Amino acid sequence: MGARATMGCSPLLPFQALWLTAAVVAALALAAGAQPSPSLSPGFYDATCPGLQPIVRRGVARAVRAEPRMGASLLRLFFHDCFVNGCDASVLLDDVPGNFTGEKNAGPNANSLRGYEVIDAIKAQVEASCKATVSCADILALAARDAVNLLGGPRWAVPLGRRDARDASAGAANANLPPPDASLPALLSAFGAKGLDARDLTALSGAHTVGRARCAVFRAHIYNDTATTDASFAAGLRGAVCPYTGGDANLAPLEPQAPDAFDNGYFRDLVARRVLLRSDQALYGSGGDGGNTTDALVRAYAANGTAFAADFAAAMVRMGNLGPPAASAAAAEVRLNCRRVN
Ligand code: HEM
Ligand SMILES: *[C@@H]1O[C@H](CO)[C@@H](O)[C@H](O)[C@H]1NC(C)=O
Ligand SMILES: *[C@@H]1O[C@H](CO)[C@@H](O)[C@H](O)[C@H]1NC(C)=O
Ligand SMILES: *[C@@H]1O[C@H](CO)[C@@H](O)[C@H](O)[C@H]1NC(C)=O
Ligand SMILES: *[C@@H]1O[C@H](CO)[C@@H](O)[C@H](O)[C@H]1NC(C)=O
Repeated sequence: MGARATMGCSPLLPFQALWLTAAVVAALALAAGAQPSPSLSPGFYDATCPGLQPIVRRGVARAVRAEPRMGASLLRLFFHDCFVNGCDASVLLDDVPGNFTGEKNAGPNANSLRGYEVIDAIKAQVEASCKATVSCADILALAARDAVNLLGGPRWAVPLGRRDARDASAGAANANLPPPDASLPALLSAFGAKGLDARDLTALSGAHTVGRARCAVFRAHIYNDTATTDASFAAGLRGAVCPYTGGDANLAPLEPQAPDAFDNGYFRDLVARRVLLRSDQALYGSGGDGGNTTDALVRAYAANGTAFAADFAAAMVRMGNLGPPAASAAAAEVRLNCRRVN
């Protein structure tokens, strides 16, 4: 089939050379039973803002060159947008003290979500070329794709045409974003609530092959989960990197072998039980899904980076299709400044 033929062309450079066309992504999405989203399309701005994609890519490339971790941060920003009332740039709205409380300071976001300035800079350039045309939500979707690709991961066609919310919800952020101690049933349920299945969960979790996490979120795993953690891995993190008391903001790479390379190293780490988060390890060896669904996927992705890249790209499109509730969608707009409503 088409997907195999496309990826079979580049066995030596599975990540850099992988180009998933819209057709391949659509085929993979349908094969996995996802809903196609009729309202979004990759060509949405072809006539109204033909320079959009090069502007976004240049902006992301500049940011990643200055700091490779920023690629990971932009990818996470998109996830945290999409899981909270859909991909509508709600996460980008600043709090207005005394008037408006948004998502930026919700539990999963405060002191860890980042990349807002990068989106601001890209948005300013897009506005200069195509005034009041391109939503912040679409810029975020493109930036996440470009970040993955610039770190060595796949590239895919991003369906476009999202609109920006005029509201945001700290409560929805706290309720919808799974915590770092989530069990496999809890993860399956959080993703299931978004129409994403075990395969999507496993592939999307591969995002943790890049980026950093704070001691505060991995302390419990490296100190208390001795039965499910490689002893020398955990010992290496205890102490200076992540003391039992204090050091909450200390960072460690989520995938220490190649912290800024979007490869399948994360899945090999899961099999070796050398990951930072309890929620990561839950995907492998926890028995939490009553069978082997995620275990088998983890093993498959650990063995075959091309399979991971293809499933990740397809799952990103499905996650990117998450839309806002009807009332919010009806009020949506193309924001001029990503931090505030028009
Ligand atoms: C499956 C449930 C998930 C949980 C429980 C989870 C949790 C976390 C936590 C706790 C951190 C570290 C935050 C901190 O230091 O305070 C993190 C970082 C990160 N997450 Fe996730 N995550 C999940 C899924 C995802 C998904 C689906 C993506 C993207 C597709 C993603 C992308 C990232 C990235 C790239 C980072 C590193 C960000 C940086 O270095 O700035 N995560 N995640
Ligand atoms: C509070 O928000 C509302 C709705 O966005 C706006 O009309 C009003 O001017 C704001 N008030 C202040 C003090 O910022
Ligand atoms: C480890 O588990 C014990 C017992 O449940 C708990 O009191 C302690 O706070 C945990 N330590 C960490 C670092 O989470
Ligand atoms: C889980 O996987 C192992 C090894 O692949 C297999 O022997 C076993 O039957 C599987 N269990 C279930 C419930 O699928
Ligand atoms: C890896 O996965 C790709 C995509 O699913 C598949 O075409 C290829 O045959 C697999 N390679 C191996 C060695 O199994």
